[in-house]
Amino acid sequence: MEAWRICLCIFFSLGLLFHGGNADPVQDKRALLEFLSIMRPTRSLNWNESSSVCKTWTGVTCNQDGSRVIAVRLPGVGLNGQIPPNTISRLSALRVLSLRSNRISGQFPADFVELKDLAFLYLQYNDFSGPLPSDFSVWKNLTSVNLSNNGFNGTVSDSLSRLTRLQSLSLANNSLSGDIPDLSVLSTLQHIDLSNNNLNGPIPNWLQRFPSSSYEGIRVIPPRDLSISQPPRDPTRQKPKAHFLGLSKTLFLLLVIAVCIVAVSALAFVLAVCYLRRKLRHGDGMISDNKLQKKGGMSPEKFVSRMEDANNRLSFFEGCNYSFDLEDLLRASAEVLGKGTFGTTYKAVLEDATSVAVKRLKDVAAGKRDFEQQMEIIGGIKHENVVELKAYYYSKDEKLMVYDYFSLGSVASLLHGNRGENRIPLDWETRMKIAIGAAKGISRIHEENNGKLVHGNIKSSNIFLNSERNGCVSDLGLTAVMSPLAPPISRQAGYRAPEVTDTRKSSQLSDVYSFGVVLLELLTGKSPIHTTAGDEIIHLVRWVHSVVREEWTAEVFDIELLRYTNIEEEMVEMLQIAMSCVVKAPDQRPRMSDLVRLMENVGNRRAASLEPKPKSENEASETSTPSEQI
Ligand SMILES: *[C@@H]1O[C@H](CO)[C@@H](O)[C@H](O)[C@H]1NC(C)=O
Ligand SMILES: *[C@@H]1O[C@H](CO)[C@@H](O)[C@H](O)[C@H]1NC(C)=O
Ligand SMILES: *[C@@H]1O[C@H](CO)[C@@H](O)[C@H](O)[C@H]1NC(C)=O
Ligand SMILES: *[C@@H]1O[C@H](CO)[C@@H](O)[C@H](O)[C@H]1NC(C)=O
Ligand SMILES: *[C@@H]1O[C@H](CO)[C@@H](O)[C@H](O)[C@H]1NC(C)=O
Repeated sequence: MEAWRICLCIFFSLGLLFHGGNADPVQDKRALLEFLSIMRPTRSLNWNESSSVCKTWTGVTCNQDGSRVIAVRLPGVGLNGQIPPNTISRLSALRVLSLRSNRISGQFPADFVELKDLAFLYLQYNDFSGPLPSDFSVWKNLTSVNLSNNGFNGTVSDSLSRLTRLQSLSLANNSLSGDIPDLSVLSTLQHIDLSNNNLNGPIPNWLQRFPSSSYEGIRVIPPRDLSISQPPRDPTRQKPKAHFLGLSKTLFLLLVIAVCIVAVSALAFVLAVCYLRRKLRHGDGMISDNKLQKKGGMSPEKFVSRMEDANNRLSFFEGCNYSFDLEDLLRASAEVLGKGTFGTTYKAVLEDATSVAVKRLKDVAAGKRDFEQQMEIIGGIKHENVVELKAYYYSKDEKLMVYDYFSLGSVASLLHGNRGENRIPLDWETRMKIAIGAAKGISRIHEENNGKLVHGNIKSSNIFLNSERNGCVSDLGLTAVMSPLAPPISRQAGYRAPEVTDTRKSSQLSDVYSFGVVLLELLTGKSPIHTTAGDEIIHLVRWVHSVVREEWTAEVFDIELLRYTNIEEEMVEMLQIAMSCVVKAPDQRPRMSDLVRLMENVGNRRAASLEPKPKSENEASETSTPSEQI
């Protein structure tokens, strides 16, 4: 019954997704089109009057119900000239505005005062000039402001000190003068950069707690000397001299043009020759691309994906409240979280400080359409124990999946990472919550696609802890789109059910096996495949079998668990459940939904009896603050 309701709900919302074009914010759309028609960027945007603002327009993000535009991000698209009044300012729900790295000139748009909800403003690397706003306090929500590398002059208003949410401010590389504003009251401020302006010293104490690069180029001389020694503007921003190599400007220009023409013709000639030679060799108009040649030609589909590359579009799922485009993602600072079976996962921190996990897939076998279809299935799953796929990207060279980032890390890292002195033990309660949460998530996945979806890659590094410390499964449904991996090269080895000879043969019952291995991992604290001191390779499942065959013994359980009292019975019950998952014959394994019930029973019985307590007092604080790590 429940399953039906969820399926219907998804069906319904997918329907909305495809037919919901008329829910567009009409007024905002008109404002953006007016803005575009006057600004005329050199990079063409796909802002088509008849397409949906919220779902297709590059750089535009709407709120959840699609009623308003809340973010406009057009970095480096070649916007020229002044921002026309009464265009952007009509987007009164705007929270993020990024027009950085363009060639926008003119003064700071006075009508931006209408953008009351503005929180992130990025106008750096443009040609703005004139004064800064005299009263910043109209933007109560301002969190991050970057106006660096422009030609702003005049003074900096003290009203900045009333922006109680301000975290980051850069006014670097402008021509600002006068006193340094007093922002000592802003406890939220984390980054400030006033460098390379004509501001008067001395450097106040509050500013000195920031790195000295924040106030480089500010003169530490008394203000009265100002009129005598105006420091030069940043030399790199000065107008070029009229003479190069002693030639007049006109002559130089002619020379440059001539050189360009020659270079372009030469390039065209070389390309033409290459093309003709290839055509002769292959007898048809195939494009030189190894992968395409293997497939035997350029499908129209490929052209489409190329065109989309130019627009750098990520495909977001409905209800996703992120606002960034591919360019932002590629620019974001990234850190490798792990190399998995199907690719490498990075943590990317976007400029508005959101963190996302980005998986870069290698060896995708599926074509664009199959890939998209699978992504729609995966992205359609909304469940508290399934890590939500927020967006994906498909092009010839790059396939990306964007997920929420989980700061508590994976079960693998909590279980096996840092087994040294500073280790924070993983208590029994949490282990139970991980197991039950993950089982619920997998059980939900198994309902998807008419009860046919397979996770295919269950392992402890694909299970994360959410903020309530429940297990959440990730990385599902990829076996269907990836090139098959044969057993020896796969790092999944320890989790792989015996009947699975290559990754495409994964089934829901092999998922149960893999889940059983994760349970054993939680119980024993041991990796599925590990080596002993004597270099002997131990298979966790076989090892547990051998220990258990001798007699039921406490030796099998993680030493870390022995500190808790009153849980022996539960541990034994859980061990039995785990053993039932890893039996050889697939049809003898329980189904995921049965497992949820069985484990919840174990948990409920405990809730009714005594709470487990650590044996010593000072260990009680261990679970309080998990570190931000992976
Ligand atoms: C806008 O979209 C419509 C239909 O989707 C198409 O016919 C038209 O050519 C597009 N216009 C531009 C300028 O791309
Ligand atoms: C600022 O943000 C809060 C929530 O973060 C929102 O409720 C409010 O409407 C925003 N705008 C202003 C002007 O405070
Ligand atoms: C700022 O620059 C403009 C010209 O770009 C100039 O007219 C104006 O006087 C300058 N203002 C200050 C305060 O220096
Ligand atoms: C502002 O922009 C500049 C140039 O893109 C960048 O180097 C700097 O980190 C940014 N500063 C802040 C505080 O966002
Ligand atoms: C200021 O300009 C200089 C020279 O162009 C550059 O090296 C520096 O990174 C700029 N500072 C910021 C914060 O963008």
